[in-house]
Amino acid sequence: MIAVIYGTRPEIIKLSPLIRLAKTKKLDLVTVYTGQHFSPNMKEVFFDNLSLPEPDYTLDVGSKSHAVMVAEAMIGIEKILIKINPDIVLVQGDTNSALAGALVAAKLGIKVGHIEAGLRSFDRRMPEELNRIMIDHLSDLLFAPTNIAADYLLKEGIQKANIFVVGNTIADALAYALKKIGSPDLPLSLNPKEYFLATLHRQENVDDHLILQDFIALFQSISSRYHQRIILPMHPRTLTLIKKFALNTAGLDIIDPQDYFSFLNLLNNARLVLTDSGGIQEESCILGIPCLTLRDNTERPETLNIQSNILVGHDQDKAMQAVDYFEKERPVWVSPYGDGKTAERILSVL
Ligand code: UD1
Ligand code: UDP
Repeated sequence: MIAVIYGTRPEIIKLSPLIRLAKTKKLDLVTVYTGQHFSPNMKEVFFDNLSLPEPDYTLDVGSKSHAVMVAEAMIGIEKILIKINPDIVLVQGDTNSALAGALVAAKLGIKVGHIEAGLRSFDRRMPEELNRIMIDHLSDLLFAPTNIAADYLLKEGIQKANIFVVGNTIADALAYALKKIGSPDLPLSLNPKEYFLATLHRQENVDDHLILQDFIALFQSISSRYHQRIILPMHPRTLTLIKKFALNTAGLDIIDPQDYFSFLNLLNNARLVLTDSGGIQEESCILGIPCLTLRDNTERPETLNIQSNILVGHDQDKAMQAVDYFEKERPVWVSPYGDGKTAERILSVL
């Protein structure tokens, strides 16, 4: 029996190809959703878009302090794992839900498989960096998306025999979604390639008043300098803080978080994307859309090496240089994230 533990928007998306494939193959697969993300537009819409079955077990962890969230998820997950006694627990990425799942399984002596293993930003201010280091070192099977990720694991002393370079399931999820989407009209009277898309949600980018204010100012300057609308599907965390700090967002098109199909339609037709999201750095790379990453580092260095992505932090000059580069050079690249058969590879390793 395989148990999958997940709890946020990107985990639903990135685990969807594996869950669907395991169900098609009639494997014994049990899903446990922690409830870290709970709003319908951060959760249900993705189950619908991606034709996923309801989770077998759902916890109600919600958003709390990191300690309470991980602890409550661990207590709930432990009861379920003792009851169902799976052969292996799979977790994806670097969230608190993934950490809780890996830690409970390892302590119960159940094997742990980590999908998207070996990513490192080397920035320990990020809760995700702490989580991914711990999850990798709790895991028995490490599914690295690329050779760069596998090399980081080897350097940290993880046995080569436990590491499998399989690509990233985001390529599988994207291929599935693109087939289903068709070519719907863009919302907000947008024309293809005549707008910039932006997302912002990282704790270290939005929780501080001045830093968040800088990002809003950066979006406003970029919008007026390049005469492009900036469409901002807003993560609930960021929306709450914009309201709390009473920031002036004049000139920006702030919209609700989008379902996966609507978001991909916006991304695929954007002139470029500005983001601090992990998944969107990968998706823009696969789709050939230039990406400005609103951080000083990234755990996705493959995208920097092929120049699909440029790090700009919240520096307006760097951001404008990066936009100028993409506008003038129009670079093309080949995605390092695999052929869309990552879920199949993971299941055959299992
Ligand atoms: C979490 C992950 C992050 C991931 C992101 C994906 C951790 C440490 N962080 O960050 O790695 O990139 O998910 O989006 O696990 N909220 C809602 N409704 C929801 C979800 C969140 O209103 O469905 C609001 C709540 O006010 C909450 C805040 O967003 O306090 C933050 O949610 P949380 O899950 O703590 O962190 P994320 O920023 O979503
Ligand atoms: N996404 C979405 N709707 C949105 C914003 C993002 O469907 O309004 C998708 C996006 O395509 C990507 C994933 O959510 O697959 C990324 O999630 P997020 O940025 O929240 O998390 P991260 O990848 O940074 O962990």
